[in-house]
Amino acid sequence: MNVISVLQRIAATATTVDGKAVAPVVWDCNCLEEVCGACTMVINGHVRQACTALVDRLLEDNPKEIELRPMTKFPVVRDLYVDRSRLFRSLQRLKAWVPVDGYYDMGPGPKQSRAEQETAYPLSECMSCGCCLEACPQYTKVELTRNEGESEVDFAARKHDAYDRAFVGAAGISQAMLFNTNPTGKTNAGERLDALMAEGGIQDCGNAQNCVAVCPKEIPLTTSIARAGRQTTLHAIKKWFDR
Ligand code: SF4
Ligand code: SF4
Ligand code: FES
Repeated sequence: MNVISVLQRIAATATTVDGKAVAPVVWDCNCLEEVCGACTMVINGHVRQACTALVDRLLEDNPKEIELRPMTKFPVVRDLYVDRSRLFRSLQRLKAWVPVDGYYDMGPGPKQSRAEQETAYPLSECMSCGCCLEACPQYTKVELTRNEGESEVDFAARKHDAYDRAFVGAAGISQAMLFNTNPTGKTNAGERLDALMAEGGIQDCGNAQNCVAVCPKEIPLTTSIARAGRQTTLHAIKKWFDR
């Protein structure tokens, strides 16, 4: 039994301790096999996936209770459900994708060597769960509230602006490195490096290495951060000579 199955049982008979009916507890989940990244919460003080947090193991640590809290670095929507949109915005900010110019057949892309594939594959396992951001001392919560009369579009634009100025975090940095080493993704490597050098970029990383310690996918985040540090330094020098 995992934490999600416990939550499902609790939600199915949502009552207070004295038996009054209440609204069921709210949480986020989807795949139930540590792939989608949606079910991240702080369980007995450790950030992790609820779907792979096994109840019998948790009770070995503390036989009396299991404590569940929402992540602290993201706005709480309700109960254990948080808004991770800042994480997804960081992928937009860093252009963490391979550009395609349409959906027509462009033929085979450039080949990747076995060694390149082996370096890239672990980075591609990121499921945007947010554990690395929750654990990072440099990643502080950004929470805005909608002003009276403010349209949804204006509120989204204000949020994106605030997110774009705050620390981007290890997950985004690592995805920028994944796409900067992809033979097609490389074509806009410079734009990713510009974004990593802007406000809230890699310079805000304090090298505490908490991120790598908590990543459920064991992604070599500090290696990505070191690589991003080298690439941005070379990019800055190149830009200076090109002036
Ligand atoms: S190494 Fe950087 S990104 Fe990772 S936890 Fe430390 S400050 Fe955060
Ligand atoms: S790098 Fe790891 S901890 Fe961070 S979002 Fe991706 S999978 Fe989660
Ligand atoms: S439900 Fe998808 S990672 Fe837990």
